[in-house]
Amino acid sequence: SKAEIGLIGLGTMGAALASNIADNGFDIAVWNRTSSVTDAFHANAGDLAARITPTQTLVDFVAAIAEPRAIILMVPAGQPVDDQIAALRPLLGDNDLIIDAGNANFHDTNRRAVEAGDLPFLGIGVSGGEEGARFGPSIMGGGKREYWDRVAHILSAISAKHETTACATWMGQAGAGHFVKAVHNGIEYADMQMIAEVYGIMRDGMGMDNAAIAATFAKWDQGPLKSYLIEISGKVAAAIDPATGQPMLDVIVDAAGQKGTGRWTAIEAQHLAAPIPAIEAAVVARNLSSQLETRAAGEALFGTGPRKLPHDALGLDTLEQALMVGKILCYAQGFDMISKASVEFGWDLPLPEIAKVWRAGCIIRSDMLDDMAQALGEDANRNLLFAPRFADIVKANHDALRQTVAMGALHGVALPALSSGLAYFDALRTARGTANMIQGQRDFFGAHGFARTDGGSGHHGPWGNS
Ligand code: 6PG
Repeated sequence: SKAEIGLIGLGTMGAALASNIADNGFDIAVWNRTSSVTDAFHANAGDLAARITPTQTLVDFVAAIAEPRAIILMVPAGQPVDDQIAALRPLLGDNDLIIDAGNANFHDTNRRAVEAGDLPFLGIGVSGGEEGARFGPSIMGGGKREYWDRVAHILSAISAKHETTACATWMGQAGAGHFVKAVHNGIEYADMQMIAEVYGIMRDGMGMDNAAIAATFAKWDQGPLKSYLIEISGKVAAAIDPATGQPMLDVIVDAAGQKGTGRWTAIEAQHLAAPIPAIEAAVVARNLSSQLETRAAGEALFGTGPRKLPHDALGLDTLEQALMVGKILCYAQGFDMISKASVEFGWDLPLPEIAKVWRAGCIIRSDMLDDMAQALGEDANRNLLFAPRFADIVKANHDALRQTVAMGALHGVALPALSSGLAYFDALRTARGTANMIQGQRDFFGAHGFARTDGGSGHHGPWGNS
């Protein structure tokens, strides 16, 4: 009998996803550009091998799948996806569905949906790394609903479950799924960066060793910060390098890599005029981290700050509270961006469902997302910060964030994401800000006009002698 679905691209993610599909009882045909990879995958599939059909040519691959076909692409984002679609389409029937499950830029997915015309196409965001792909990722779908419905039973079966709810959700047309995945990654960047900043305070400001830092993250993982990223940060801090016996963290170069999704989020936020400063700061921090030589020269020229905080300047509880508030701020920014995009692109993105689909399987999964889903369910158009349950947490704890940021500033420990999160919060709670000065300047040099507090717009100076 023929396979129910096919998958192209047996790299780390593709192989894990194919195994997951077979593991859930679906017969799957697989193809990889290099046949030896296909053969090795099948040979190592153990009990799952019976449900996997390895194929050597694209023609054989297509022939092995039951019609109407559904084919998942797990190839590197960008041109390889276009090339694969071009190679595949001539072999397919008009009713056969191509599903791009890679980390595509959602603009590319929008374009591919247009290029597909009446031919079935979906772009789905898949989060959770290799382990998620193998045992249950979080899946964010985009494209025509009828195509999603065709494969929803498979995608739900292989997805992560929050209690009994499958983390596989249709987000909207065309690039909507990949857009939501991009914002997920933006939040992922900010969440990771804030954790790294707090690690910096513990290491440089408090002089804690890796074991103490690991223990602190492990403790926080039992409280309100409970999340996958806190959990793995504890494990990263605890790990020992077998080659040297040193803590792993001490042998890793402090230059962060990036494949681009966080950057896409920051760029798109600018197009949307969506304020996501903590996420942007996290992208900037990665860019700066890679300037190793400049930073070394900077330290030689300027010295570092005193770094070491006075004894008892900050407690670990204060740091935990600061991180809690920072985390809420970065999620509030991410969801605000999603709601702006929803309007701008006419997608009608389901904000509470997005929080729900992130509750399990994905990299940013955390206990807090369950509360976020509820808060967005009450009012999806309200900034998360204003939802009573989060407003209460922020009211009770923003002073901890302030103390942390102030200590970092005074002692020269860079905290870009935490401090821009704080500035966002302070701006959002200032009814009368300082943009009146900007408007005065704009009118002075360009007669751009301004609105008056006592009514009317399009007013101008006089500005005195210029
Ligand atoms: C996920 C991740 C994943 C991402 C990697 C690398 O949700 O599983 O977001 O999709 O590609 O984490 O991302 P960077 O190379 O940009 O850090």
